[in-house]
Amino acid sequence: MRLLIVNGPNLNLLGLREVSVYGSHDYATLMRQVEEYASARGVQTAFFQSNHEGAILDYLQSHYKEADGIVINPGALTHYSYALYDCLKALPIPAVEVHLSNIHEREPFRKISVIRDACIDQISGKGVASYFEGIDRIRRDRQP
Ligand code: DQA
Repeated sequence: MRLLIVNGPNLNLLGLREVSVYGSHDYATLMRQVEEYASARGVQTAFFQSNHEGAILDYLQSHYKEADGIVINPGALTHYSYALYDCLKALPIPAVEVHLSNIHEREPFRKISVIRDACIDQISGKGVASYFEGIDRIRRDRQP
């Protein structure tokens, strides 16, 4: 099994941004943990991060054929990107929405995910373990 692990705006600033919310590990460290978790379960991963909505859409559209599923933390795009919703709806592989922080216990605008209904699940508030659960959720979905 092969998964695309996609991260949106400002996730490259992990370790610097709001450490009390997101923790002190940087992006590379967290993605290494995700890669280790996945490979220990026989799952191959391809990583992509961008601060640009269109670059994320282009990446998903170009690479979905090489993958069995998508684990995506869209950052703030979660809350307003109907273009990302349309893209995830269009692609014929399952996506899981993940968040490091608990989006339901922060500012009101974060409670709304406009991409939720294009995903098979939303996992929020578990730190890097949100990504681990996202991987497991797709593994369950894809089991024959
Ligand atoms: C986030 C939550 C979003 O509201 C925020 O815009 C992010 C990160 C998270 O992982 O908790 O950039 O997706």
